[in-house]
Amino acid sequence: MNRIELVTAEDLEDRLGACLEHRELPDYFLYLGKSGYEGWAKLSASSEFPIASSLTRLLRESLSRMVGHFPAVFDLVSIGVGNGEKERLLIEAAHKHSLRYIPVDISSLMLDAALARVNDLEVNKAGLVARFEDLPWLHGFWQSPIVLCLLGNNFCNYEPNYLLPLVENHLGPEDLFLFDCHLIPEHESGKRLDEVENMYRSPLNARFNLQPLVQRGLPEENCAFHLDLEQRLTSAGMAYKTRKCIEILADSSIVCASRRIRFAAGERIRMGFTYKFNVLQVRRFLGSHKFHILELSISEDGSGLLALVRTPAHSQT
Ligand SMILES: C[S@@+](CC[C@H](N)C(=O)[O-])C[C@H]1O[C@@H](n2cnc3c(N)ncnc32)[C@H](O)[C@@H]1O
Repeated sequence: MNRIELVTAEDLEDRLGACLEHRELPDYFLYLGKSGYEGWAKLSASSEFPIASSLTRLLRESLSRMVGHFPAVFDLVSIGVGNGEKERLLIEAAHKHSLRYIPVDISSLMLDAALARVNDLEVNKAGLVARFEDLPWLHGFWQSPIVLCLLGNNFCNYEPNYLLPLVENHLGPEDLFLFDCHLIPEHESGKRLDEVENMYRSPLNARFNLQPLVQRGLPEENCAFHLDLEQRLTSAGMAYKTRKCIEILADSSIVCASRRIRFAAGERIRMGFTYKFNVLQVRRFLGSHKFHILELSISEDGSGLLALVRTPAHSQT
């Protein structure tokens, strides 16, 4: 048995129903089920949405430097692992190390794909279907030293002043944290911001965001996806944050968790967000939480960052 479900499909369907009653659709629901799995596979492979492929390229280019810092024996824990493509690269690059692989994802299909991706490698593995937010209850499943990964721009889907203390509180002195994010340039131009906004507004991404409702019976013509990139003052300076919602265009209903949920024309369903920071701001957040940067790679075109850091406790020793 190398897979444990800490959250079941029924729990998630119930939670989705409760969120929709409050006109909220948190982003983790987008990845669930076959349609979420396939929707993300299509989006991440598409030239309309190059963030995913460019962050994978950046990891490939930085592998040897990152892996050079990994402990000789460790647990590789990756939360929001997706199909595990990046983790396979890490495991192959760490062939001189002894590691146990612990992929974690809210989507059981993603988790299965991540586990299957390393079937031909001799690696001990144990997967968890769980949420990142449950980190305080998850750390009993691994043993220090760990390399905790949060890859695929997941870092930007949380408030950094929530995420970094949460990570810090659950890392031991020998543990490392590896994350990536999509950046905006320090001196951002209107053109670049328009490009980012248009990428998130692309038809493929709009369909991906609408599919949890469409799959449950909302006619596509009865809803519209809206997204803006707005300026946000953060503790690291002025950054950008997506604001997105689904607008209901005609009275409609869906079936979720065995109950009918009705929407009236004109209602709006709030969704999750993605921050857009520049390098300096990411450095400031890490600095303000006293993380010590071991490696920081920036992609050639300046659009992606990959960082390997450790906790303040370790830096003081
Ligand atoms: C943007 S994809 C990134 C996938 C992969 N890490 C990559 O780099 O390609 C986000 C992944 O995180 C998972 N996810 C989203 N929110 C999550 C949460 N709150 N807890 C655990 N997994 C989550 C999704 O199911 C999906 O597999």
